[in-house]
Amino acid sequence: MSIDPLTDYDIFDSQFVIDPFPVMDQIRESECPVAHTDRWGGSWMPTRYADIVAVAQEHDLFTSQQILVTGPPPGQEPEGPYAAVAAPPISSDPPEHHWHRRLILPFFAPQAVAKFEDGTRELCNRLIDGFIDQGEADAAADYAQQIPVRVIATMLGVPTDLSDTFTGWVRGVLEAGLKDQAIRLEARNNILGYFKREIDDRTANPRENDLITTLLNSEVDGQKVPEEYVHGVCNLMLVAGVDTTWSSIGAALWHLAQHPEHRHQLRDDPELWPSAIEELLRAYAPVTMARIVGRDTEFQGCPMSAGDRVLMSFPAANRDPRQFERPDEVILDREHNRHVAFGAGIHRCAGSNLARLELRVALQTFLARIPDFELVDPSAVTWAGGQVRGPRQCKVRF
Ligand code: HEM
Repeated sequence: MSIDPLTDYDIFDSQFVIDPFPVMDQIRESECPVAHTDRWGGSWMPTRYADIVAVAQEHDLFTSQQILVTGPPPGQEPEGPYAAVAAPPISSDPPEHHWHRRLILPFFAPQAVAKFEDGTRELCNRLIDGFIDQGEADAAADYAQQIPVRVIATMLGVPTDLSDTFTGWVRGVLEAGLKDQAIRLEARNNILGYFKREIDDRTANPRENDLITTLLNSEVDGQKVPEEYVHGVCNLMLVAGVDTTWSSIGAALWHLAQHPEHRHQLRDDPELWPSAIEELLRAYAPVTMARIVGRDTEFQGCPMSAGDRVLMSFPAANRDPRQFERPDEVILDREHNRHVAFGAGIHRCAGSNLARLELRVALQTFLARIPDFELVDPSAVTWAGGQVRGPRQCKVRF
């Protein structure tokens, strides 16, 4: 970045998207580790682990009225026909957040997500069957991108053969739509229109062992939950479960393509997998979330006004040397690793058990079938950034 990142950072600057860490280091080690920009609707960006965790934990002050990293001020967003539908629990503040989250947690308990392991492994093997004989594949587009969308579709009980359509909508919300509100609105309306039809269908024809039917029948304080809640949960599950996990899988493969010693370590010592997964999540945390300041305040010497947007860059937090020794190195057996790739506080990722399962199965299956691989051309790898950072094209040869 040629501009001063302390006062004018640009989360969509092409260099920043490819490698944000030098800029984050520069801000973090400056006298003012909370940067500010007027770009993209304006935002503050703390870069130290402790500050980012504090923003996540102080939910009274830093509200979830908006959680996208760009956009018009709260209350001014044109939301079309589904204006009343949000994305609970991620878009909810207490006290509603409590029941919004409680109702979905059982679907993501370790034993509940374990039933997706075999199907995910079969899916990974099928994808690899499709390209293994070619000696070359796009680890991001042909593999990583194909996995989470099908797992979530299976979980929601909607057709997996709509995966490309779902992926296009999610990218509309979390990628192109961050710079162009018309694209975001159109993608959002497509998602909500689709799930409205699915909900109407379940209302007319309830299904056994079906997540949407179960949610429609759930009660809080003796009352059936409003349909908008179920509609919003479907919206969130698609949007939260696809780009995020695919970016993690893709970034981990990008890393492994360049680190034969790490591939060998994982092959020689399978017990490393649990800590390796956490370390890859730490080093390549994909997600940055936003909060809206609830009332005028001062935070780390910065005068913040009600309505300001604050970015919680979990990638920046995870590279803070105050928290992690040698933060820029991937150390697969790292012992102390309280990373915040899944956030912190009341909104900490509800899908983390599923995300970890998908990441582990995707990497284990790839490495078992393709033990050695390298980037075809490191400079040709493309990245998405902003809300969710990860490789979008990442050709490897084997
Ligand atoms: C590697 C993959 C993933 C990463 C890095 C990730 C990251 C995050 C982060 C940082 C948050 C906190 C949001 C905030 O503080 O505002 C979050 C929340 C959430 N995530 Fe994930 N996520 C991943 C995968 C998933 C998956 C597969 C699902 C399943 C649908 C999911 C569902 C959720 C939900 C429901 C919340 C909202 C929790 C709440 O507000 O109480 N995530 N995620």
